[in-house]
Amino acid sequence: MSETLTRNEIIVRPMTVRIGAEISGVDLTKPLPDETIATLQEAIARHQVIFFRDQPVSHEDHLRLGRAFGELAIHTGVSGLADYPEIVAIHADENSKFVAGENWHSDLSCNAEPPMGSILALHTVPEVGGDTAFSSMYAAYDALSAPMKAMLEGLTAIHDAEHVYRPIVGNNGKTYPCSEHPVVRTHPVTKRKCLFVNASYTTRIPQLSALESDALLGFLFRHCMAADFQVRFRWTPHAIAFWDNRCTQHQAIWDYFPQVRSGFRVTIAGDKPF
Ligand SMILES: [Fe+2]
Repeated sequence: MSETLTRNEIIVRPMTVRIGAEISGVDLTKPLPDETIATLQEAIARHQVIFFRDQPVSHEDHLRLGRAFGELAIHTGVSGLADYPEIVAIHADENSKFVAGENWHSDLSCNAEPPMGSILALHTVPEVGGDTAFSSMYAAYDALSAPMKAMLEGLTAIHDAEHVYRPIVGNNGKTYPCSEHPVVRTHPVTKRKCLFVNASYTTRIPQLSALESDALLGFLFRHCMAADFQVRFRWTPHAIAFWDNRCTQHQAIWDYFPQVRSGFRVTIAGDKPF
């Protein structure tokens, strides 16, 4: 569905045929009526990632927005703000040695119950650069050949956070989550099948030999990054991105060093992939 949808002054404008829509006519700094929440739920089910402009949300607004779509999750990799443990700061500047989410990933797929979605609000963005790219895992699954789909059916994959967070957070005695999920999952809302492996967390398909697993994952990681499965978002100050983590992957592009890119994220809890 690619036409623009207008309902109660809310405009949902698709950005590509497969993924992404920009939404206007909504003020996220105010509590949202149920009807608006339903419209946004429908938009995210269809477009997988939705974007808003000019929404200078406070931490309270941000939490309220997240809670309208489900219970909030505490990040299992990095600490939240002291007063708002459900809010994680996302920040890069001239002192940054790395940025979060530089490789393609689905947020915290290492968790036994990976998040349903994430809401990122950036208040400060570089004048040029700092886009986020999102890829549709429905599109990735749909594009596979029938023999490949048949082969993936019934396979699982290991998603490990150790190699992702240990180098960033250091040796603090903490253990990081590691979980096994189906390679192809069924979206609990749309009932559509999507690929659920990503280059950041996924390490191994245990039913295959190491060589087979490396080859198949290498292919799937490359396949998931095809440009025609993607939408790329150009940030503006106080823009918000809200993505469905179950059927998308994303990559934060760090092409703006030493400029500042800064904001906050909340994460909405999800359930066990099936
Ligand atoms: Fe991310």
